[in-house]
Amino acid sequence: MAKIVFWSPDQGRGNTSNAVAIGTMIGQDYDIRTLITQTHFRRSNLESAFMKAKELQFRNLVNTTTSGMDNLERLFKSKRLSVDSICDHTISLETGRLDLLMGTKKAEAHESYPSIAGAIFDEADRYYQAVILDIHSGGKDIVSHQLIKDADIVVVTLSQDTSVIENYVEQKEWPDELQNKTKIILLGQYDKYSKYNVANIKRNYKINDPIYGLPYSSEFRDAFNDKDVLNWFRRARNAGKRHPSYNFFQEVRKISKDLLIQIGVNTEIKRIERGVS
Ligand SMILES: Nc1ncnc2c1ncn2[C@@H]1O[C@H](COP(=O)(O)OP(=O)(O)OP(=O)(O)O)[C@@H](O)[C@H]1O
Ligand SMILES: [Mg+2]
Repeated sequence: MAKIVFWSPDQGRGNTSNAVAIGTMIGQDYDIRTLITQTHFRRSNLESAFMKAKELQFRNLVNTTTSGMDNLERLFKSKRLSVDSICDHTISLETGRLDLLMGTKKAEAHESYPSIAGAIFDEADRYYQAVILDIHSGGKDIVSHQLIKDADIVVVTLSQDTSVIENYVEQKEWPDELQNKTKIILLGQYDKYSKYNVANIKRNYKINDPIYGLPYSSEFRDAFNDKDVLNWFRRARNAGKRHPSYNFFQEVRKISKDLLIQIGVNTEIKRIERGVS
């Protein structure tokens, strides 16, 4: 139904973390079919966020030379790619609701890779209601260009550093495809006590797109490093006001809901009652 692309003009601002937090919240709070994956070559940390909860499945995949995405590329080339084959190559994180597709193990993109990746996610889009893609940052990656072009909405990760915001507003590092896209801006590792808060940034830089701060959370960082984001969300996301990550979860929940509304999901109907999952 909708491809949600997470992109940042800059490295290391929290793009993967933002995709992981929002993907996990949607997968646990909403009864919609969600796929989460990434399109980096060489290094990516998205999958590791979920490893602890799915150790067996990951262990089987770690020693193989291909990944879910690589197998799908092979199927595409032999014209055997289907919605079912996509589902078969994912790891189920939340049954029927959140699937993870492991990104490529290849070192670099070949010339036709962008259009192949585009076709694979188009096919995935026919089954999943939300396809969350953590793509490579900056304006030079050919795969990112294609996926921004295909996106229904682009979530742009910025920070509260004025240089990052100024570069963004001046459209430096912008792939052309970003021009006419629906965008929302997330300030990663957000510090609400900074002078450069959401309201100030919006006003000072005259940004019309919606802006949110996704709070810095020590516990989230620890859970990511412990490869245990899935279980940490299960345990802590509905905790009360005195929980140290209460604010983090509130904001992630708000952003997730607004994002789903933007892509046309009825969040009242699809929301899972607390305690059911
Ligand atoms: N909301 C957050 N709370 C705490 N730590 C965070 C948060 N977001 C990101 N981090 C930390 O910031 C660092 C960079 O985050 P992340 O890997 O998500 O950035 P990235 O933009 O995807 O980087 P890259 O460009 O290398 O892909 C990591 O150490 C991560 O744990
Ligand atoms: Mg990343």
